Amino acid sequence: MSYPVTLQLRGRRCVVLGDGPLAAEKARGLLGAGARLTVISPTPCAELELLRSEPELTLHRRGYAPGDLAGSFLAIDASGDEEINRRSFAEAEERGVLINVVDRPERCHFHAPALVRRGPLSVAVSTDGESPFLAGAIRARLERILGEEWGPFTALVGGVRRRLRARGVPTAEQVPVYRRLLGSEVRDLLRDGRNEEARYAAAAIETAAGRPRTGTVSLVGAGPGNPSLLTLAARELLAEAGAVYHDSLVDPRTLALCGPDTRLVDVGKRGGRRSAAQGWITTQLIEVARAGEDVVRLKGGDPFVFGRGGEELTALRRAGLEVRIVPGVSSALAAPAVAGIPVTLRGLASSLAVVTGSERDGSSPARLEAIARSVDTLAVLMPLGNLEVICARLVAAIGPDRPAALVASATLRDQRVVRAPIARMARAASEAGITSPATLVVGEVVDAIPLQQMGELVAGAADGPVVSDVVESAGPRTGTEEVGR
Ligand SMILES: C[S@@+](CC[C@H](N)C(=O)[O-])C[C@H]1O[C@@H](n2cnc3c(N)ncnc32)[C@H](O)[C@@H]1O
Repeated sequence: MSYPVTLQLRGRRCVVLGDGPLAAEKARGLLGAGARLTVISPTPCAELELLRSEPELTLHRRGYAPGDLAGSFLAIDASGDEEINRRSFAEAEERGVLINVVDRPERCHFHAPALVRRGPLSVAVSTDGESPFLAGAIRARLERILGEEWGPFTALVGGVRRRLRARGVPTAEQVPVYRRLLGSEVRDLLRDGRNEEARYAAAAIETAAGRPRTGTVSLVGAGPGNPSLLTLAARELLAEAGAVYHDSLVDPRTLALCGPDTRLVDVGKRGGRRSAAQGWITTQLIEVARAGEDVVRLKGGDPFVFGRGGEELTALRRAGLEVRIVPGVSSALAAPAVAGIPVTLRGLASSLAVVTGSERDGSSPARLEAIARSVDTLAVLMPLGNLEVICARLVAAIGPDRPAALVASATLRDQRVVRAPIARMARAASEAGITSPATLVVGEVVDAIPLQQMGELVAGAADGPVVSDVVESAGPRTGTEEVGR
């Protein structure tokens, strides 16, 4: 395990050995850090020749000779020559010079990390020399996450810090200012080149240092379960929230995206335990925000699809709080999608209804027959408690043969899909032992697309494909799915 540091090289003598583009890259990096550089290169490549005019660079057109590292602070051997590698490392050891022999981790006193630079902000990625490829790949990802606006943003936060310190604002009062800046629109404004507005917004936050403030509440959709389907906005809010009040169905991997100091409060139903009363949840959200914390109310799927998000929004607005709404991928759309069922399809289905399978009193949905007759595709959420009744009522309304699918734990590792005509769905689900959460999809679209050979796959899931089993009660189908009758 190495000890990460950044080195001040300004004015210090450094040496690079080698002829090729790699030697040139190392030379450029060292010159960029202000080093006085000697390059020892018998046949320098074009990139090295280009650097010759740099005032701090001395180029010796010859091979390495013992003594070349004398008086230097740091050396990089990019010669790629085993014999030179051995000798340069021995000399560095003897003289106490820091050396990196490229691609020879056992001959390295240090590893140069892959760097993301955004103005004063640097993020270094190191694998201790294990895999420069991985370090580069992770840097490429970070570069996409940390846009160019992070440079001016870091400088702006630095300016705020200097002024707060000059004013003698205690550190405990500075930290909330930095947190507010991080969660504010300042970065977005900088990204859009609206620098004046960014400075103005930052100044407003800075001026309020030490004064009590009211926090915000964000109603955030967590999607159907798989964290890879979380929105970027949701991720950012989770990372910065003071407290997160979440449903039980929210995946632990999603909760792991919260900041280290975030208070997590489970307010959902689980294992027969009663969920927290809605009134209690709303009161908590209001109190915590009024105490100055930014709160996230994290709900499965989309917060406004059978999630009581509307009730919470009403109460929060009445309390005069600033509320942000971050939509999520609803299971009403995600569950059919990951089972390969398009909810609309040209020429076959041009309308979709999403209904609950369980009304407030637990009964089956009131206008089910009328809705089923008037739309092409029906998605029923919370269908399991009344599955038999729902299926019987649908048979009476639209006939026994309408294709249906029950998608359980959609997007998660234990995803399962049961397919059967609606008349046989309740029995097929019971035989397959389907458990909550599950979404029922009814319509010709269920059978419209041929099944995949080995079950359905979730495209783009971060933890790899999720294989569904498919229980089919209506005669043979293509593929090798499990067939249950
Ligand atoms: C109280 S509703 C909340 C719906 C949520 N707001 C949404 O937009 O997905 C809970 C129901 O959503 C459906 N559901 C949630 N997660 C699911 C999943 N991973 N797979 C299938 N259905 C799911 C089930 O029908 C479950 O009973």
